[in-house]
Amino acid sequence: MNPPSSSSTPRREFLKTAVVASALAGVKIPAVHAAGSEQLNVALIGCGGRGTGAAGNAMGQSGPPINLVAMADVFDHRLKNSFESLSKQNPNQVKVKDDQKFIGFDAYKKAIDCLKKDDVAIFTTPMAFRAVHFKYAIEKGVNIFMEKPVTSDGPKSRLILELNKQAEAKGLRVGVGLNSRHSRGMQQLKERVDNGEIGDIMFMRGYRMAGPIGSAFSEKYPGKDNDLPGKPSELLWQLSRFHSFLWASGGGFSDFFIHHIDHLCWMKGAWPIKCQSVGGRTNRGSYVDQNFDSYACEYTFEDGTKLYMDGRCMVGAYSHYSSYVHGTKGVAICAKNGDTGQPSSIHKGQNPDRKSQVWAAEEGPTEKSSHFNEWTDLIDAIRNGKPFNEVKRGVEASVVTNMGRFAAHTAQEVTFEQMLNHEHEYAPGIENWTMDSEAPVKADKDGKYPVPEPGVKKDREF
Ligand SMILES: NC(=O)c1ccc[n+]([C@@H]2O[C@H](COP(=O)([O-])OP(=O)(O)OC[C@H]3O[C@@H](n4cnc5c(N)ncnc54)[C@H](O)[C@@H]3O)[C@@H](O)[C@H]2O)c1
Repeated sequence: MNPPSSSSTPRREFLKTAVVASALAGVKIPAVHAAGSEQLNVALIGCGGRGTGAAGNAMGQSGPPINLVAMADVFDHRLKNSFESLSKQNPNQVKVKDDQKFIGFDAYKKAIDCLKKDDVAIFTTPMAFRAVHFKYAIEKGVNIFMEKPVTSDGPKSRLILELNKQAEAKGLRVGVGLNSRHSRGMQQLKERVDNGEIGDIMFMRGYRMAGPIGSAFSEKYPGKDNDLPGKPSELLWQLSRFHSFLWASGGGFSDFFIHHIDHLCWMKGAWPIKCQSVGGRTNRGSYVDQNFDSYACEYTFEDGTKLYMDGRCMVGAYSHYSSYVHGTKGVAICAKNGDTGQPSSIHKGQNPDRKSQVWAAEEGPTEKSSHFNEWTDLIDAIRNGKPFNEVKRGVEASVVTNMGRFAAHTAQEVTFEQMLNHEHEYAPGIENWTMDSEAPVKADKDGKYPVPEPGVKKDREF
């Protein structure tokens, strides 16, 4: 398995890799067209919190202004709120006429149709639709920014890797929202870890332990005559509460833990080969979602190095949200707080406190948030004709995340290969869904959805 690549790889390295890959495959790398000073536009598909943020990040880049020209969502009110907020922030760059606002499961096609070559389609719906949207954007030959996670099951992981071969053949630039990789502080730390400043890595630790987050805890669906905004069907309601459903997001596990898992693997320069985990549900009362509220995972790399990831969503419990790399000569803090919180730092010994600190990342003149930086790097690649494709790495990070979740939900050890090649598809037929489609998981008579049963259901999560 290839080690994770860095989006900060210098151009020389990228080109070297491209030439070698090309020679090996016996094919020519397509000429990479540079958009130069041409007008770049973006289309937003999934107009929620992150989508509104990502479109704002795109429009905030320096250079010739980038315009938002189309928006797509399944809920009218979500699109409207996002449009109003973006129009206030970027009055001259939001150029979305009424006939460029689209609602429905096929809205993504209409939004992508508003783009021209070199423009960027932004995929910020819940994870389940990535492959569907990716396929159409590739057909249309536009660049893409897709949020994490990329997949939650084996069939979609393999499909996206396969689709990506077409994206690469067309020379499309594709960013994946694992924004740790674009944190300038973490890039500095990665260089120091690679230079041996903490010695050989012995083990790594990540923690995302907090109270209930996002839509991970759901009460029973109130029925189709509900008073919720947009009066959602059960399918649309599940989508609007996507952290609660494994088919929609990989659950709270995949959505919340992927950043630490990804950046710790980046520090190690490899993906783990297997994982065992524990997890459980306690005090769930009337909640009907599919999540456990506690998880503890032990990942093992080929050389025996361990990565421990602990996650918890629980009221009244101890909170901890940071990540660490322990080496033979010292310890590094990767994310000081949150997913990517800075400054990353290096410490003498194994106790990372202020006294033991020997280095801390500096904020350079170009340092903004890593969400902003990931757009700086993508737009730089588009404008300056550089190859840029983060999909393979995004799928691999998603598969590794899925291993931790699957191992906890089944109480079995799972390898990378087993997870990638697993046959259970969580949202079959999603490419043909309409507003009248049935929800892919059904509630029992009490309104509860199937939950994992570790040790009982051993080869599937639900
Ligand atoms: N990288 C990060 O730090 C980060 C942070 C937050 C969210 N995210 C990711 O971004 C994605 C969205 O998260 P969010 O917090 O913005 O959620 P959200 O619920 O605020 O937004 C999602 C939007 O997508 C819409 N939508 C759902 N299905 C759709 C479809 N088929 N077509 C068009 N629109 C559809 C929803 O109606 C909603 O408006 C998730 O995958 C999440 O993991 C990443």
